[in-house]
Amino acid sequence: MTEEQVIPTMTSELVLNYLRGLGKSWQGKGTALELGCWLGASSAALCEGLNEAGYNKDFWAFDKWEANDSEVIKAKEQGVNIEVDQNLSDIYFDNVEPIYNRILMWKGRAPGILQEYIGGPIEICIFDAPKQDPTFIESVRALYRNWIPGITIIGFMDYSYWKSLEHPRAIYRYQAPQRFMNRYGSHFEVIKEFDSGELFLQYKEKLII
Ligand SMILES: C[S@@+](CC[C@H](N)C(=O)[O-])C[C@H]1O[C@@H](n2cnc3c(N)ncnc32)[C@H](O)[C@@H]1O
Repeated sequence: MTEEQVIPTMTSELVLNYLRGLGKSWQGKGTALELGCWLGASSAALCEGLNEAGYNKDFWAFDKWEANDSEVIKAKEQGVNIEVDQNLSDIYFDNVEPIYNRILMWKGRAPGILQEYIGGPIEICIFDAPKQDPTFIESVRALYRNWIPGITIIGFMDYSYWKSLEHPRAIYRYQAPQRFMNRYGSHFEVIKEFDSGELFLQYKEKLII
């Protein structure tokens, strides 16, 4: 992609700006990590902010990076041609590396791929891939011991996605993050919720799952 082209995204400009701000408020206490990076728009926004904050750690990026039908359509609508089953990791790298050059990319499926995480305390932890259980809860389980009480910001990017669904079984499946919050919400403080469904939390009290 040329520099003038924007990175196709599944995240609104409002939320991307919020991610920029999150990055900018990095306190130097831990790493930033995103699970579900696609072509890099949300990572790029976060990294722009992190750069401003003087971030000096690896940026941990996890995704399976295998295009499906709906991703092909969404990319095309935003002027980028990709094919079903295409490995998108090179496109991600080309989009994000010019903004932050210490990206550690892990290509594979969560929760298994998250075992590769060895970066220590996590300060910013964005979940934009796991939306249903068991993937959702197992992804949280793989990472939460690295969260820092009073510091870590967690983003559940599809927290209210279920509201757009009609089928009761699909609604139940996509309510995995709600079930998590019903059970463990007292360990978190909501810092921002968007009408488009993204929920940002601060981890407050040590959790044992
Ligand atoms: C909603 S998109 C991410 C959008 C991106 N954050 C943005 O703002 O443009 C979800 C991404 O999660 C990835 N994904 C879905 N399930 C996954 C899994 N179990 N493990 C790893 N990646 C997964 C998909 O490949 C896709 O790139």
